[in-house]
Amino acid sequence: MKIRAFERRNTETVIALWLACGLTRPWNNSRLDIERKLTVQPELFLVGTEDDVVIATVMAGYDGHRGWINYFAVSPEYQRKGLAKQLMADVEVRLKAIGCPKINLQVRVGNDSAMAFYRAYGFEEEERVSFGKRLISDVQP
Ligand SMILES: CC(C)(COP(=O)(O)OP(=O)(O)OC[C@H]1O[C@@H](n2cnc3c(N)ncnc32)[C@H](O)[C@@H]1OP(=O)(O)O)[C@@H](O)C(=O)NCCC(=O)NCCS
Repeated sequence: MKIRAFERRNTETVIALWLACGLTRPWNNSRLDIERKLTVQPELFLVGTEDDVVIATVMAGYDGHRGWINYFAVSPEYQRKGLAKQLMADVEVRLKAIGCPKINLQVRVGNDSAMAFYRAYGFEEEERVSFGKRLISDVQP
């Protein structure tokens, strides 16, 4: 798998991949999420490709304190081949290179396979309660 920055021409494939991986939610708008990311650290929005077809994604960012991982996904037919491990290792190098000391991420309750991956990879479960507050509604009227 080759890893490179997302390019706009990948939009439809990436959205289809997120749908297939169950990452999309009605209150989020994948297209807007992509457009916003292209304005903030777009170099940390990565895709993994095989024959230039996107088979994995990660949307990372460093806020000056922590690195964050979102939209981390491997296409279902390519799972359990070590590709998530490869992609995570790559994004870690990129975050560390810009001084990021720690990665945080959130997993939806019930996403056991993701939790199994993060544990196997070396992430530790931390006792936190996650809060969120929406500033802009992305739901289309
Ligand atoms: C989580 C995800 C990215 C893992 O991708 P992957 O390419 O299959 O992971 P890897 O092959 O690199 O797995 C590395 C190790 O993690 C663990 N692991 C990964 N998936 C697992 C699963 N479904 N069940 C148990 N352990 C798992 C295993 O220890 C695995 O090593 P092994 O295959 O030698 O046993 C993938 O399952 C996925 O895209 N899920 C849907 C999207 C998602 O939920 N993303 C996370 C949002 S927080």
